[in-house]
Amino acid sequence: MAVVVSNANAPAFEAKMTVYVFICVMIAAVGGLIFGYDIGISGGVSAMDDFLKEFFPAVWERKKHVHENNYCKYDNQFLQLFTSSLYLAALVASFFASATCSKLGRRPTMQFASIFFLIGVGLTAGAVNLVMLIIGRLFLGFGVGFGNQAVPLFLSEIAPAQLRGGLNIVFQLMVTIGILIANIVNYFTATVHPYGWRIALGGAGIPAVILLFGSLLIIETPTSLIERNKNEEGKEALRKIRGVDDINDEYESIVHACDIASQVKDPYRKLLKPASRPPFIIGMLLQLFQQFTGINAIMFYAPVLFQTVGFGSDAALLSAVITGTINVLATFVGIYLVDKTGRRFLLLQSSVHMLICQLIIGIILAKDLGITGTLGRPQALVVVIFVCVYVMGFAWSWGPLGWLIPSETFPLETRSAGFAVAVSCNMFFTFVIAQAFLSMLCGMRSGIFFFFSAWIIVMGLFAFFFIPETKGIAIDDMRESVWKPHWFWKRYMLPEDDHHDVEKRNA
Ligand code: BGC
Repeated sequence: MAVVVSNANAPAFEAKMTVYVFICVMIAAVGGLIFGYDIGISGGVSAMDDFLKEFFPAVWERKKHVHENNYCKYDNQFLQLFTSSLYLAALVASFFASATCSKLGRRPTMQFASIFFLIGVGLTAGAVNLVMLIIGRLFLGFGVGFGNQAVPLFLSEIAPAQLRGGLNIVFQLMVTIGILIANIVNYFTATVHPYGWRIALGGAGIPAVILLFGSLLIIETPTSLIERNKNEEGKEALRKIRGVDDINDEYESIVHACDIASQVKDPYRKLLKPASRPPFIIGMLLQLFQQFTGINAIMFYAPVLFQTVGFGSDAALLSAVITGTINVLATFVGIYLVDKTGRRFLLLQSSVHMLICQLIIGIILAKDLGITGTLGRPQALVVVIFVCVYVMGFAWSWGPLGWLIPSETFPLETRSAGFAVAVSCNMFFTFVIAQAFLSMLCGMRSGIFFFFSAWIIVMGLFAFFFIPETKGIAIDDMRESVWKPHWFWKRYMLPEDDHHDVEKRNA
């Protein structure tokens, strides 16, 4: 199994943030950028007439009769499949990626990701029919599955321990930058007829090439080498990335961690044991909640949504650029606050904040947007403003924390497996939203915003009662400092699991 060596509570090993590590981090983070680009690009492309005419003539026909039904003009299972197929493929791929990560290493897994991306880009940008388009999206999804498993692991293993938390959110930051770039590309390519959509979809080829060639330059992580018994190479790699001579202590700690991890033959089975329950349940529910905030309804379909409330194509695409910019900027706020105010404060604050936004949007649409017709200018503006405020709240809370919390609450021996399950759950719920949103919009109309509001209340209550604060807690000390004292989770901390050190397991 793959190992993430985490040692927030370990002695601070001597390490410099070397230029080499910086370059490796930038190259690997391109994986997050491609993921974000894929999230952002499909909504804009789905709103382009040239694209609809070519692949979804029925949607295009319906769209021409805009005045017939605001909420249903885009409702089409195949159009949703265009967006959602990627996540289904990523879900399946992340389990294979978890295997290649441990057997072959993080670097080759990233290389596979970039090759899948390139094939996917070629097929989607060059698509001449729907089948080619969907198969292309599946390849992009394989890329996302491989990339999202390997990149966060790579980042956390290569970073000096004291920078690990911040670097974790760099991944989310790159995702948001990818979404923003996609929104800008959509805005400009929408005016290029008739093949603007090909440029938009082809754009992902640039970061994919950077990832492919970049991954030839970067180093394999010491943990991955040692895990595969290449101890000498691992030691060399560690020396190279740390930029100091004395790396013996850290080296020993990685060897020790790999030793412990290798005793656990089946980490997935271990995940089902009572002791794993708190991080496992929280890790999975966080993904459900993250997606049921409704964020991707906005990220995927913002241009479509803005057209629904009465903007023209251009204004709708421009609004998506604005929400994308806010998403990036607010992520910095998250990076700044997460270790100051703590995780719980951000989760609870944003639940109230997002709830208010969803309710206001829902009420305006319910009151003022009939099945036909458009919103008045002032109301449409208020909707856009509250969409922006809502995105802001998500970007400093459920967005990054959905990834951070599962990466810091599992004990070492189940960390990688637990994270793989969390990634797949995320992909699954993203798939559900992507596949269902346009039909839900059509069936529930403005009620969709009350639907998400109800979920936000549930997740706020869950966070209040069940998500403990993990700020500043040593990553390997969660059992003692977090779960054992917790009013609810303590019931799963059985005394017999207390001393499970290597000796005991060997006995
Ligand atoms: C989520 C994505 C979402 C993005 C928005 C990520 O944390 O996993 O589904 O599109 O944030 O910024």
